[in-house]
Order: sequence, then structure tokens, then C-alpha cells
Amino acid sequence: MRMLNRILVLTGAGVSAESGIPTFRGKDGYWRNLDPAKLATPEAFARDPGLVWEWYRERRRRIRNAQPNPAHQAIGKLAQHAHEFLLVTQNVDDLHARAGSPKEKMVQIHGDIFVTRCSRCDFQFRDTGRGGSPEPPAPLPAERGRLESIASTSSGEREEEDIDLPRCPRCSVLMRPGVVWFGEQLPWDELRRVENYLEAGPCDFVIVAGTTATFGYIIDWALRARANDGKLIEVNPEETPLSQFATQQVRESAAMALPRIVDQLIT
Ligand code: OAD
Repeated sequence: MRMLNRILVLTGAGVSAESGIPTFRGKDGYWRNLDPAKLATPEAFARDPGLVWEWYRERRRRIRNAQPNPAHQAIGKLAQHAHEFLLVTQNVDDLHARAGSPKEKMVQIHGDIFVTRCSRCDFQFRDTGRGGSPEPPAPLPAERGRLESIASTSSGEREEEDIDLPRCPRCSVLMRPGVVWFGEQLPWDELRRVENYLEAGPCDFVIVAGTTATFGYIIDWALRARANDGKLIEVNPEETPLSQFATQQVRESAAMALPRIVDQLIT
């Protein structure tokens, strides 16, 4: 086994497709005939928070019941064979983490679906619904009662049904899923982590898998990381705006291609 020097991996919904999580722009992406691109917006939440919450609860359930696939596992393995490694995923599911990608080497640039956060202040908690307590970031003592009551009902589905629309215990306004919606800023701290990694030097290999690369920053990060000499490998059954820059285009599913690519890189 060889140790690689510096790697950046960028992933999108296609990597979780083979775990049964619908992609955004794919044919299964619609929910009740509603376009995810219209539901995942601040405007949709302002208009009908109940509907938006229902969609996210349904997605949370699906993710909870899904298992990581060989693509997630291959990326987790690659992380162990590089001196420096960063995975930047646009996916809000936890499948990369469950496949062993370490938290400190992963950025969820579009947020985390299991986080519920206040629409106004910085109160938030994370609950995967798999038992155990929610993980609040440093709650104030006064909030403990509320969190314990969430914890005591947090056995998966029941919690979802019991809580109507969650309200912030600090300021009473509606809480929302901890994800980035269309038109919103990317989370500053996570953005900083990506920038720090890019500024620290070029990568030998950049792998971009399962994303339409719709957002300019995905292409920008891939090209900056690869710099002059790095290899840029795209894994996607379809052509994307990034394809023209790839040194290798792999037109296969991520679960098929990534285990092979990773094994080739590390042996
Ligand atoms: P999309 O749904 O736009 O694209 C999924 C991509 O995965 C497509 O390019 C498919 O060709 C490819 N794909 C499908 N099945 C695949 C498979 N088995 N293996 C490999 N590739 C496969 O998802 P994203 O590009 O991730 O953002 O979307 C980016 C962002 O747009 C999302 O994070 C979300 C969305 O709107 C926000 O909500 C802010």
C-alpha cells in the first residue's frame, strides 16, 4: 500500500444514489410532484413551514434507513491512505460519516439534515433519531429541560410525529433544518476550512463524484486544488460542466467506479 500526499474529494447526491437516496435533479428527486429546488428555499419555508418540515422528515427517515454504499466506503478508505485529505460533500446525509470518513477530514458544505436550528439565533441541536441524546452545541443551563424533553421522545419516528413544528427554546421562533437552502450563504466556518485546505498547497489527486457541479464553487475548488500538475478524476455517468477540465472521465456509477479507482491509487 502506498501513502498518497494530498487529496481532495468533492461529492454530490450521485454518491448516495445507490444507497436509495434520490438525487436532486434526477427523476426520483420530486416529492409529491414538488420540485426539491422549490422546496429547499427560504421562501418555501416562509410560505409553508409544515410542508417543508414534512419533506425533510421524510428525507431524514429515508437516510436513517439507508446504508452507506461502496462509494462511501472507498472514500473512507482513501482518507486513511493520504498524508493530507479533505472530503467536501454537498450531501446533507450522514452516509460518508457512517462509512468511516473522519469528521475532521470532512466538510458538509450544504449542512447536516439531522441538525435542527433556530431560524433567528444560533441555538441548534443534532439528533439522528437512532437513540442516544441529541447533541446540542454547548446548551445554556436554562435550555437543558427542553433538550431532555426532546431526548426523551427521540426514538426515531415517534419524535418526528410528536413534535409539530419545532420552536426555539430561546426565542420561540420556528426552528428549521440545518441545511443550506438555495440562495443562502454557505456556512462561514466550513467555507474557511475548505479555503484553508486549498491555501495549504496543491493536491496530487482531485476526485469529483456524483455531482452536476451546478455551483461555480465546486468547479472553482476542483481546479484550484488540482493546480498545474494534479490529476482531476470525474466519476459521473453523465457529462457535467466540469468534464472538460477532467484529466480522467469515468462514466460509471460511483459505487462501481470508486472502489476500483481508490485501489488503483493506493496500490
Ligand atoms: P444533483 O441531483 O444535481 O446531481 C446528481 C449527479 O449525480 C448527476 O450529475 C448525476 O448524473 C450523478 N449521478 C446519478 N447517479 C449516480 C451514481 N450512481 N454514481 C455517480 N453519479 C451519479 O446533485 P448535486 O450535484 O449533489 O444543494 O446537487 C448539488 C446541490 O444542488 C445539492 O447539494 C443541493 C442541490 O440543490 C442545496 O440544497 C443547496
